[in-house]
Amino acid sequence: MMLLNPGPVNVSERVRQALTRPDICHRESDFAELQQGIQAKLLKAFVPGAESEYAAILITGSGTAAVESALMSSIPHGKRALIINNGVYGERMSQMVGLHRLGVSELKHEWTERPDPERLRLALRQHPEVHAVGMVHHETTTGLLNPGKAIAEVVDGLNRVFILDAVSALAGESIDIAGSKIYMVAGTAGKCIQGFPGVSFVLVRKGFLERMRAYPKRSLYLHLTHYVDDQGRATVPFTPAVQLYYAFDEALSELLEEGVAKRIQRYKKMAQLIRERMAKIGIKPVLQPDRQSNSITAYYLPEGVAYPTLHDRLRAMGYVIYAGQGNLENKIFRIANMGAVTEAQFIAFLDAFEQIVGGHP
Ligand SMILES: Cc1ncc(COP(=O)(O)O)c(C=O)c1O
Repeated sequence: MMLLNPGPVNVSERVRQALTRPDICHRESDFAELQQGIQAKLLKAFVPGAESEYAAILITGSGTAAVESALMSSIPHGKRALIINNGVYGERMSQMVGLHRLGVSELKHEWTERPDPERLRLALRQHPEVHAVGMVHHETTTGLLNPGKAIAEVVDGLNRVFILDAVSALAGESIDIAGSKIYMVAGTAGKCIQGFPGVSFVLVRKGFLERMRAYPKRSLYLHLTHYVDDQGRATVPFTPAVQLYYAFDEALSELLEEGVAKRIQRYKKMAQLIRERMAKIGIKPVLQPDRQSNSITAYYLPEGVAYPTLHDRLRAMGYVIYAGQGNLENKIFRIANMGAVTEAQFIAFLDAFEQIVGGHP
């Protein structure tokens, strides 16, 4: 089955085979080596040249675990968080801080609009109690790419902490994490990194990690400093999904062999291929081209075509597409181009799609 949903993704045979490596105990040196290897690869891939300034903390759990752990661990007593919300995942960040009454009123934007850095600057000046700002880099809801660098500049300029949900962005979009002084970045194995779901991570600036040790614990499992000992070395406080770590390690090796910049270019090229063909057959995108990410395109459903019908017919031919979420649920569908999938496979999918909608939507 070819997965055109934004994770879980199709993985390579090499990554799948890694699951079958020998059983090991997470308290033994073999696991420590595996974990250290993954951490070193993550830092090399995403903060190249600044590896010594960041720590990579691994969590057994989906991307939401990484985002929630970053948010919950980064707010001192008496301080608050401000969330930029322009989609389902911004909304989720808002819910996280809302549950603990740690938020100030969110900066809400339309799901098709990019956040405005000047609006953020104003809000931060009005709210000195805000310590951390949370935003999604790539809003998977619509495939909207948010302006990570411009927002990071405002956050850093006003001495706040930026927490970026890059779950669907890392390895698909370029961002200079270290250069933009982003303190925390949440990611997952199971999207553009092309591993399996179930392992996620947070890249944390080391100086900030030390400050976080004094912050309140709001979760036992997700308190990030539990995962780092007094010397700054990684610990494993809970049983990790060992086999998934093997596969994650292999996926990161593949990423580094391909090169992060080349992976991003490949995704961009596949997205262009999809967009050109869809334009040719008259399928309308939800977003203006300059807002679209490299790995998802949201389209309005063709006139008279119901999502379940489109989905089921494509599925019968071996292709899984993705529905809209929230208020876009019955209006749009999404095509993701993440994973170990070839250009020829995308072309075959597009042929199947054209055959189904008849070229005359
Ligand atoms: C931007 C973003 N953040 C967070 C998540 C949540 O990840 P998970 O479903 O792995 O918990 C997703 C999942 O699609 C996402 O796209």
